[in-house]
Amino acid sequence: MIGGEALLRAILQVLDEGIHVIDTSGVTVFYNQAAARVEGLEPSEVVGRHLLEVFPSLTEETSTLLKVLRTRRPILNQQQTFTNYKGHRVTTVNSSYPILVDGRLVGALEVSKDITRVRELAEAVQDLRAALWGRRRSRAPDPGSARYRFEDLVGEDPGFRQVVEKARRAARGDAPVLVVGETGTGKELLVQAIHNGSPRAGQPFIAQNCAALPEGLLEAILFGTVRGSFTGAEDRPGLFELADGGTLFLDEINAMPLGLQAKLLRVLQDGRVRRVGDTRERAVDVRVIAAIGEDPLAAVAEGRLRRDLFHRVSVVYLELPPLRQRRGDIPLLCEHFLARHRSGHQSPARRLAPEVMELFLHYHWPGNVRELENAIEGALAVARGEVIALGDLPAPLLRAAPAPQPLRRRLALAEREAILQALAAAGGRVAGAARLLGIPRQTLQYRLRVLGISRPGPPRRGSRGQEGRGSE
Ligand SMILES: Nc1ncnc2c1ncn2[C@@H]1O[C@H](COP(=O)(O)OP(=O)(O)OP(=O)(O)O)[C@@H](O)[C@H]1O
Ligand SMILES: [Mg+2]
Repeated sequence: MIGGEALLRAILQVLDEGIHVIDTSGVTVFYNQAAARVEGLEPSEVVGRHLLEVFPSLTEETSTLLKVLRTRRPILNQQQTFTNYKGHRVTTVNSSYPILVDGRLVGALEVSKDITRVRELAEAVQDLRAALWGRRRSRAPDPGSARYRFEDLVGEDPGFRQVVEKARRAARGDAPVLVVGETGTGKELLVQAIHNGSPRAGQPFIAQNCAALPEGLLEAILFGTVRGSFTGAEDRPGLFELADGGTLFLDEINAMPLGLQAKLLRVLQDGRVRRVGDTRERAVDVRVIAAIGEDPLAAVAEGRLRRDLFHRVSVVYLELPPLRQRRGDIPLLCEHFLARHRSGHQSPARRLAPEVMELFLHYHWPGNVRELENAIEGALAVARGEVIALGDLPAPLLRAAPAPQPLRRRLALAEREAILQALAAAGGRVAGAARLLGIPRQTLQYRLRVLGISRPGPPRRGSRGQEGRGSE
């Protein structure tokens, strides 16, 4: 058994976040590899020395760790840009906390996340957008990056048509729009169609996913920065300025931090933006369309979406139905996607086998129209003849297929699945699995033999399953 402290140190060493702990005299007592990597140092150069001795550019006033020691109050999510010991410009987001034991201050802790690459990429995208729109403005108007039009929205379901027709009418004006719908229901399509169907078509259409960037960066990207407003900041227009005259699409608005939501609300109300660190306000003429993939009232109730912002952006409220509520459109959508993707895959397939259509009509489509489109595109790519068969479909869909098998066989399959799940949950131990299933251990052992399930070995701990959140 490893001792508690050794264990803790081992865990802290391998974290992706930098961890820096000082005692009350300002001397570093713990400093992990990630922190060392960001600062361009070795842990041995930092541990046991006073903070200001290791980082001479800091002072009692500017060091967040020392400040936390003085005030005993945490400092959260501070974005910092600095040149590290290896001469690299790095940007981090830091949170510092006092460490109190039984109410007595024993030190301070800082957790830092390296967002240098994210920031570089975001700024590069920003500069490209600025260059692109700068060039376009000088030429004839261009349809811009919004490709879809109302005609591209396939579907005849009355509920769906109602939403599209409402959107078409709303396109004439400037009122903010909120588009609500599960993933893959066509939110982005509808937003682009609104822009292209509006008097703003030909002016910029800019989309920003609010979940893709950390708070400080998102603020800088949306509202712009002036040189020196924080370390490393340049004069850069924000998306509101870049989208002037056009449409700004804020996707996943519920992921926007609450402080920024307040700032966004002010811009929506005044039609003026102030760059981060600037004193001057600039008037902008931007139509804002927001999208959200969950029930906005739930997001409001859970404190992730400000109620006042919700009311302001949902002047026009459009809710796209999930595909399972408009199953009548499935044949039409299938036709559409078959025609659209056939040539790309040089596929001989022309139509769906009746069992495939049957399955499509009953499947619950958690990924909605996108999932249907992907299923058809995938099937086209592997189809052998003129007809797409069940075997050409992706596995998750196939598993949902009603099996044309005798009841006994289907029951056995269901039982097998339940037992395997219980075994996995119990780490392969029969006694534990039996408890989970609510049957005696002997019964389970018997069923294992009958069903021909061999007991799995001891559970294997794989590598870390957590992958970073991809951006779109
Ligand atoms: N009504 C439709 N007609 C034709 N194609 C559609 C329709 N709805 C969705 N699609 C297709 O599904 C894909 C996904 O749609 P879209 O990107 O608009 O979904 P979304 O609601 O924004 O999803 P997410 O929340 O995951 O971003 C589109 O690329 C488009 O090809
Ligand atoms: Mg989308």
